[in-house]
Amino acid sequence: MPGTPREGNSAARKNNKKKAHCITSSGAGGLFFDMENTGQLRELQRHAPLARANGPVRLRAGRWRLSAGTVSSPDASHVPVLLKPAVDALLTDPSGSYLDGTFGRGGHSREILGRLGPAGRLLALDRDPDAISSGQALTAGDSRLTLRRAAFADVASQAGDFVPLSGILLDLGVSSPQLDRAERGFSFMADGPLDMRMDPDSGVSAAEWLAASSEADIAAALKRWGEERFARRIARAIKNRAAPLTRTGELAELVAGCVPRAEPGKHPATRTFQAIRIAVNAELEQLEQALEASVDLLAPGGRLVIISFHSLEDRLVKRFIRRQGAAPGNRRLPPAAAGPGPRLEAVGKPQRADEEECRANPRARSAIMRVAVRTAQGAAS
Ligand SMILES: C[S@@+](CC[C@H](N)C(=O)[O-])C[C@H]1O[C@@H](n2cnc3c(N)ncnc32)[C@H](O)[C@@H]1O
Repeated sequence: MPGTPREGNSAARKNNKKKAHCITSSGAGGLFFDMENTGQLRELQRHAPLARANGPVRLRAGRWRLSAGTVSSPDASHVPVLLKPAVDALLTDPSGSYLDGTFGRGGHSREILGRLGPAGRLLALDRDPDAISSGQALTAGDSRLTLRRAAFADVASQAGDFVPLSGILLDLGVSSPQLDRAERGFSFMADGPLDMRMDPDSGVSAAEWLAASSEADIAAALKRWGEERFARRIARAIKNRAAPLTRTGELAELVAGCVPRAEPGKHPATRTFQAIRIAVNAELEQLEQALEASVDLLAPGGRLVIISFHSLEDRLVKRFIRRQGAAPGNRRLPPAAAGPGPRLEAVGKPQRADEEECRANPRARSAIMRVAVRTAQGAAS
C-alpha cells in the first residue's frame, strides 16, 4: 500500500533502503528511527492510524535520524504486558479488596474489575495526572473502583479501609502514552522538553537534574541505573556543553556522539535515558518503600505481583521476596524460641511473556513477573 508506514517497514526490512514514510504531525518535535531495527519499525506500525491522519513524511537517510514530526496523541493506547498471567496470579478472591499501584491506561485494572464480583473493590493509584484523567470514565461507570493520583511509595497511607488487601499489583516503568508524547520528555525517539517526570508537578525535571548535578554524580547515576559503559564520557560531554541541555533530542544526539558502538537493536541513548528517568523519579526508592509497606497491608494468602522491565528493578524485587521469605528467627532453636517465621513466600518461578506476546508487543520482551504470597505470620486480618 503506497504512502503508509507499512510500506516503509517492508522497504527497510527487505531491501534495507534508507528511506521510509513515517508518522508525523506539525510542530517542533521529532522522532528517531533506526531503519534497520524491526522492533522500532513495529512501533512505527503501531502508530499507523496517526500517520494516515497526518500524512506521510520522508525520513532522512541513515540510522538514528530525527524526523520532522512528533507523536502527540494524548489518548495513545497502552498494551498491558502479561495481562492474563498477572491477574490470574493476583486474584484469588472475587470479593476481596485489591490494589493496582500503577493504573497507567487501566489495562490491568479493567481485567481485575472484569473478574471481581459485586462485593470486590479495587483501589488504583498513579502519580501521572494524564493516567488519572484517562480513567475518569471507568471510575464513573464502576463504583467498585477508586482511582487516586498518588505515588505507590505512599501505599500505606492511601490504602486506608481497603486493608487487608487480597492482592497488590505493580506494573513498573512507563506507559506507552508517556513515551509517545514528546512533550513529556521521556523518549529519545521524539524530541521534546527534557523533563521525564511521571508527576510533572513534583520534583525536578531531567534538565534541571542534569544542570544541578556534578559530572561525577551524573557518571555515577549512568553507571548505576543505566549500567552504561561510557558513563564518564557522556557525563563529561554533558557538563562541557556550552549551553545546558533542554531537549531530549539534544541529549540523544550528545550520547550518540559519545558511544562508539551502539548495542545491536538499541538506540545508543537507551541506557542514559533509563538512568536519568530512574534518578528523576526516584524509581528504585519508590519501589523499595512500596514493597516494605505492602507486606503489612496484605491479608494472609494475599498476593504480591510485580512486573519489572529491567534488571535493577527485578533484582530488588527478587531480593526483597527472598529476604521476607527467609525466616528471621534462628532455625536451630525450638519453634517457640526461634522468632517469627517468613512473611512472604515466592509463588512459582519468575515468568516472562511468551513469544506470541513479544511479537505483538515489543515492550513485553523485557518484562519479568514475580509473585509472592503473604503468610499468616503477623498478617493483617
Ligand atoms: C507500565 S505503566 C502501567 C500500565 C497499566 N498496568 C496498564 O495496563 O495500563 C506504569 C504506570 O505506573 C505509573 N507509575 C510509575 N511509578 C509510579 C509510582 N512510583 N507511583 C505511582 N505510579 C507510578 C506511571 O505513571 C505509569 O502510568
